[in-house]
Amino acid sequence: MEIVSVLLFLLPLYVANAIPVVLGGGAPIDFGIKFGDGRRLFGKGKTIRGFLSAISGGTLTAAIVCYFFIIPEIGDVQMQFLAGIIGSFGVMIGDVVGSFIKRRMNIEAGKPFFLDQVLFIVVAIIFAYPFAPALYTIENVAFMIVLSYLLHAGTNRIANLVGLKKVPW
Ligand code: CTP
Ligand code: MG
Repeated sequence: MEIVSVLLFLLPLYVANAIPVVLGGGAPIDFGIKFGDGRRLFGKGKTIRGFLSAISGGTLTAAIVCYFFIIPEIGDVQMQFLAGIIGSFGVMIGDVVGSFIKRRMNIEAGKPFFLDQVLFIVVAIIFAYPFAPALYTIENVAFMIVLSYLLHAGTNRIANLVGLKKVPW
């Protein structure tokens, strides 16, 4: 397993995941629309600004990583850049899908749910797969998911401690 390759691959995705907490807010992606069950489609926690800042931040991070490092398993700077952009998009799709599921299960926006920790990375790595298939060994994929799980819990606690998030999850 090439841990450095995996970490460089994940960096834009983690930035994309984290940035909405800082730069998000404003109009919600679902424009307040309700689903058939009377609850919000995604809820107030998923905003357009959060979505766009995530893709921008992930893309910028991917560009910086591409400038300094070529991930050997990818071996192509364009593919590596695309993995970061499309992966960041995947992070946001996973995020919205997670909220959709939470609302259908009647879990309020902001309340924790076990999928919060992993769904974003699972969807992101599915999206990024076509651009970096050689990176997807069983060990690497397992490492990506476990690391994301642990980091999600850890960073949310830190974000809560420094006052970025009201709740420690
Ligand atoms: N955020 C945002 N836009 C997004 C995602 C997140 O503005 N697309 C911001 C919101 O302020 C949100 C915070 O980041 O409250 C934390 O994100 P997250 O934990 O994903 O959302 P929750 O508020 O917990 O909502 P949900 O229960 O739907 O996950
Ligand atoms: Mg949350």
